[in-house]
This record gives sequence, C-alpha cells and structure tokens, in this order.
Amino acid sequence: MIFKEISDYREMIEVSALAFSFEKRDRDELEELFEQLVEGGRLLYGTYDGETLVAGCVVYPYRMRLRESAVTMGGIALVCSRQDYRGKGGVRLLLSGTLESMRDLGYPVSVLYPFQRDFYRKYGWEVFDRWQLIKFSPSSIRDFDSGDIDARDMAFPDEESIEFYRRYASSSYNYVLRNQTDWRDRLSPVWSSQVAKRVVRFTRQSEVVGLMDYSINLDRKEGSYFHSILTFVSKDEKVRQAMFSYIKSLSHQVNKIHLFGPMNCEIWPYLYDKPDECQLREGSMIRIVDIMKLDGLMLDSPDVKIALKIEDAQCPWNVGGIMLEIRDGVLNLTKIPEEEAQLEIEIGAISTVIGGRESLRRMVELKMARILKDYNGEDIQKCDVFMNEPF
Ligand SMILES: CC(C)(COP(=O)(O)OP(=O)(O)OC[C@H]1O[C@@H](n2cnc3c(N)ncnc32)[C@H](O)[C@@H]1OP(=O)(O)O)[C@@H](O)C(=O)NCCC(=O)NCCS
Repeated sequence: MIFKEISDYREMIEVSALAFSFEKRDRDELEELFEQLVEGGRLLYGTYDGETLVAGCVVYPYRMRLRESAVTMGGIALVCSRQDYRGKGGVRLLLSGTLESMRDLGYPVSVLYPFQRDFYRKYGWEVFDRWQLIKFSPSSIRDFDSGDIDARDMAFPDEESIEFYRRYASSSYNYVLRNQTDWRDRLSPVWSSQVAKRVVRFTRQSEVVGLMDYSINLDRKEGSYFHSILTFVSKDEKVRQAMFSYIKSLSHQVNKIHLFGPMNCEIWPYLYDKPDECQLREGSMIRIVDIMKLDGLMLDSPDVKIALKIEDAQCPWNVGGIMLEIRDGVLNLTKIPEEEAQLEIEIGAISTVIGGRESLRRMVELKMARILKDYNGEDIQKCDVFMNEPF
C-alpha cells in the first residue's frame, strides 16, 4: 500500500458514505461537501492498493488559538477505510503519512474528534478540550432589556462580523480564527436532519458587538425540532443579555435550545429555572506534529526549565532530548543530548500538557511522564480548553 494525496475527491464519496452510514438522501450533500472542501484548499489524503483507494481522510488547515498564540492546526476529519480492507493497516499508514505531510507543510499541531480515544492514542493523540452542552427552553430565559442592540439573522456573516469573530477568537480559549472558507464549511452543507444553518449578528450603533450561529435540527426520535448554538460570542455582558433576549423571542417557534459552551460557562444568571439538562461532552484530541515548531509559543505559566526526553513512535523528528523553558510567558525549545533529560514523556502526554488540558506535574503523578533524574516538581500549568470547531 502507498500513501498519497487524493487527486479526485469523488473517490472518497463511496468509501466515506459506507463507513459513516450516510443516508441515501444525504448523498448529494456529501458530494457537495467534498467539492467544497477541495475548492476551499482542504487536503485529501489516502492510502492505495494499486488503483484502489483503501482509506482516506481530510485535513483542514486552521489557525487556532493555542495557549496565548495562534498556530496552524491540521484538523483531521472523515478518517475511514474500505470495509473489505479493515484491519490491514491502511489507516495506520494514512495517519503516519498525514503527519509527515503536515510536518512538511509546517503545522505544529493536529486536532481530531475521536470515535474512540484508544484508537488515536496509539498514534500520539491525547485528550484536549471538552464542552458543556446546556439544554433549555427559550421561554425559561429571564427578561432582559436589549437596549440599543439590534439583531440581524443572516445566511452568511458579513465582513464586519467575520472580523469581529476573528478578533474575539484570537484572545479566547482555543477558538479557530475563522476565515471566509471556514465560515462556509461551518454553515454548509445542510443535512437532511437539518432545516438551516445561519448566523445572527448583533450591532450597537452599527458596530458588531455579538455573533451567534445556529442550526435547526430535527430530533427524529422525538419528532420535534431544536436549535443548536455553537458560536455565541459577545463583546460585553449587556450584549450577552441582548443575545439571550433574542433567543427568548423565538419561544413561540422553538421549544428547545442546545447551547454548547466552555466548561466554565455559567448559564444560571440567564434562566429563571434550572436548565433541562447539562452534559459534559468530551471533545477533541490533540497531537504535536512538530515540537520544534512550538518554539516561541506564548504560554501563560510561571517560569520553568525542564529537560525532557520525547518518545514518538510515528514522528522520528520529535524523538530525543529537548530543553523546555518558559520565560516571561514564552516557550523556548532547544535540542539537547537525551542523557540530560529529567523526565521521559510520550508525544501524546506532552501534547495534552502544551494544549493546556493537564499540568506536567499531574502527568508525573499519573505516570504518564516518567522521572529519569533530578525532578523537583517543575510544572507547566493547565488552562481552560475549548475549541468549538466541529469539523
Ligand atoms: C476506524 C477505521 C477507520 C479503522 O480502519 P482500519 O482499516 O481497520 O485501520 P487499520 O487496518 O490501519 O488499523 C488501525 C489500527 O486499528 C486496529 N484495528 C483495526 N480493526 C480492529 C478491530 N476490529 N479490533 C481491534 N483493533 C482493530 C489495527 O490493529 C491497527 O492497530 P495497530 O496500528 O496497532 O496495528 C475503520 O474501521 C472505519 O472506517 N470505521 C468507520 C468510520 C469511523 O468510525 N471512522 C473514525 C472517525 S473518527
């Protein structure tokens, strides 16, 4: 089998439709999705047995906030293989080839949403963000005065809205700094279980001060519709209240909202009653593609200097001794002889630490980083992690 870029996206349609059990009525949308992905510069990779596409995936080149910097992140999606080639190593080759390509393109990290964590863990991905899914009825929203804030429902965000979101994203959690293409992917295609995907722009004296996107979804089991809101960003508290007030105004049409937010998002001040449901949703996994590309990353954690020995079964360029130093909020990385290392750590575990989900000290406690010598509790602190980009 060989790994290469897929030159004709149509080859992916059958493999992915069967692997993900796409319904027949969604086939046109699936074709539209692949067409759009290629048009938007997304990368399609595959492994081939002769002329036959055995396995494939899509890579979204995103600008994502990681710690206090924006980095290029390869978002891997639609990983799938032919049913008659399962267990034959097509996906293993696909992932190592994709990692090598992302390294050649200069991507420091990659993120994916796992169907099963252990499957990707052995290829170096480890836990990253998590979400809070809050379900409530619009009629349970408290009464707020929207003041001078206007709402406009739109099929696609205008330039001012895109700029507003980019500015917000560049200083919040792990948001993707969405460009036009990212927004287009976000808002289409509309699957048969969905009625629409749209955005609502909030302005104050014609300045954009808030933005939300939503999809109207059919709950086939219940036979009812609900609104899912994934993007919900506001400049200040007043705008946030106006946005909730807007959702409340939909209460005669919509009886259920699913709002996805970061773990520390507090809904209680906006509702008269408890929400119907609050769920913790484990989200994505992160992997460092090329550790040296993270040199210079801004990282808000106390100064520290620690010598690491990195293990990486797929990416030999990451393997070996590295001096990791955080000084005045900047990460500095230098190659060192591995005999100097204080801790030995696998690429997945260090990815989770740099990603912010877990601290280095905790990784030592969990034995996900092994002490080699002279470790005195040096730490890299964790932070709030939330990516909010369901690719
Ligand atoms: C998950 C999926 C992509 C795996 O594809 P595959 O062709 O079996 O992958 P590979 O043959 O390269 O095997 C990859 C690894 O999984 C293991 N594996 C494959 N099938 C397995 C099975 N049935 N039980 C246990 N392990 C299995 C292999 O041993 C291999 O591990 P290794 O690298 O340690 O040897 C494929 O089953 C699929 O397309 N599923 C449906 C779509 C899907 O869920 N995609 C994931 C989206 S996040």
